[in-house]
Amino acid sequence: MCGIVGAVSLRDVTPMLTESLYHLEYRGYDSCGIAIIKNGELHRIRGTKRISELQKKIQKNNLHGISGIAHTRWATHGSPNINNAHPHFSGFSSKNASIAIVHNGIIENHEVLRKNLSKIGYRFKSQTDTEVLAHLINYFYNGDILKAVQQTIQHIKGKYAIAVFCKKEPNRIVGARNGSPLVIGIGKNENFLASDNVALIPFTKKFIYLEDTEIVDLTPNNISIFNTNGIKINKKIQIEAINSDVNELGIHQHYMEKEIFEQPKIIRRLLKNIKSIHPELFGYQAPNIFEKIDSVLILGCGTSYYSGMIAKYWIESIAKIVTSVEIASEYRYRDTIPNPNTLIVIISQSGETADTLSALKHAKDLGMKNILSICNVATSSIVNASMLSYITQAGLEVSVASTKSFTSQLFSLFLLTLVLAKLKNRLTKNQENLFLTDLKCLPKSIESIFSMRKDIEKWGRYFACKKNIFLLGRGVHYPIALEGALKFKEICYIHAEAFQSSEMKHGPLALITKNTPIIIIAPKDKLIEKLKSNIQEIKVRAGELHIITDSNNFNIQKNINFLKISETCNSLSPILYGITFQLLAYQAAVFRGTHIDKPRNLAKSVTVE
Ligand code: AGP
Repeated sequence: MCGIVGAVSLRDVTPMLTESLYHLEYRGYDSCGIAIIKNGELHRIRGTKRISELQKKIQKNNLHGISGIAHTRWATHGSPNINNAHPHFSGFSSKNASIAIVHNGIIENHEVLRKNLSKIGYRFKSQTDTEVLAHLINYFYNGDILKAVQQTIQHIKGKYAIAVFCKKEPNRIVGARNGSPLVIGIGKNENFLASDNVALIPFTKKFIYLEDTEIVDLTPNNISIFNTNGIKINKKIQIEAINSDVNELGIHQHYMEKEIFEQPKIIRRLLKNIKSIHPELFGYQAPNIFEKIDSVLILGCGTSYYSGMIAKYWIESIAKIVTSVEIASEYRYRDTIPNPNTLIVIISQSGETADTLSALKHAKDLGMKNILSICNVATSSIVNASMLSYITQAGLEVSVASTKSFTSQLFSLFLLTLVLAKLKNRLTKNQENLFLTDLKCLPKSIESIFSMRKDIEKWGRYFACKKNIFLLGRGVHYPIALEGALKFKEICYIHAEAFQSSEMKHGPLALITKNTPIIIIAPKDKLIEKLKSNIQEIKVRAGELHIITDSNNFNIQKNINFLKISETCNSLSPILYGITFQLLAYQAAVFRGTHIDKPRNLAKSVTVE
């Protein structure tokens, strides 16, 4: 979380830093700020409102300069107020300040460092762990900001990406990373640093991705990168073909709406590369690795975890391989029994989720090296640390709520299922063709969900004024109920709970009252008759029922609302029910007037534990 950016140039960097902040706002929006060196002094503007407000203040104060750093914050240490907003300065008064820093991550030993620095006279103006870094760099500073940062790093524990500069060396910025992403953008007579290349796309297409413990020293015409031992290293420049208009809203009201409607296009794009089912789709080493695995362990958080839950049903029923799924943050702190023949599947949209990345490292430390990441960002830390990767190609997802990334993860996981099944001789040619046909029918079936938008909108209006909603699903559709509930929570701020419909009578039924809305996922599958009995059990207890189904065999009963899905693509039906919930929660959020793309307290990329 938190977005950092820095720029050193021969021209004014203020407009560039501001523009970058807009692109980084998805990483946190509790507060924001910018620091610039102007007329030999450090100047800082901070705010607790959105970037647009900061921009107005920058213009009002006529802030210009040829080097600067900026930040958008997701608060960890210290509440989201102006004093805790970055950049943080070090000097004995802010006018004299000589060091400025922006930071993403958590410094774990900040308390002891704070105590020691206080003892020698440093005064703290914030509750952040970052200010500790500013003072420590100041303490070590002896005319060379690079050396001061190198020394500081020896004394800190935790995760960080930082950009630092000093007023005594006005055209120089130093960056360092350990556990939080940092990318260098290469310009002409100017160079940049940022948490994500997206922030720099308007200014350059040339990037160098820093790895953990690396440090970079930037001036407008020079980039020097050093390893942990302070030795200068050469790194590959990567050219990214991303358009600067990737995050234009276009005709849409919100990014979430835009991203929901992009889904057929994304699936068509993924389908283009699939003529047949073969393991090389997951990398050239995949055939050897997949051949020897005897089980699968899927790790992820939030929506990515739910896509893993769905994959378990697919892999066990189609490929017949024992599969388990765990929340990444729990897995790494639990005693487990490692099996070197397990395929570890790491699922993450951003590829930077701290809990998921740590779980990956934990699995590796346990001797499980067969790691496949399913990820949306090819240059991310998770992809970097994986032996195999499959890039979901969903494009930049701006809205905090995962939508298109969930669908593309499911597509990839279904493909993985088929590859594993084929390799283990558990897929006949006929079955392969049928499953491929299901995949190919997906874009059209998704569009058929969009054609129900008016009905979904009516449902959205209805649920918008509810305090609690229950969602029920069975089997492979139970994770969809969980994902639907997550969407209602995060973008509508409605308390939503998901249960397996069969579990209601074991406890949750006690919650059902006359006005408790229950949304039931009722696919036409082998459990439908059982589900109908569950529905009756709820109905006689006066629960308010709303059924989403593709079955024509429901008796349309009084007091039950139906939403009829026309196509399901067989095994891929969870994708279509998932998209229905995305639209439903979105419409409810529109009626509630919430901050749909940037829900309170959340951030898109969760880079702290
Ligand atoms: C869901 O809408 C959220 N965006 C969240 O649960 C997300 O899926 C989770 O934080 C994991 O993120 P990742 O996929 O980037 O690792």
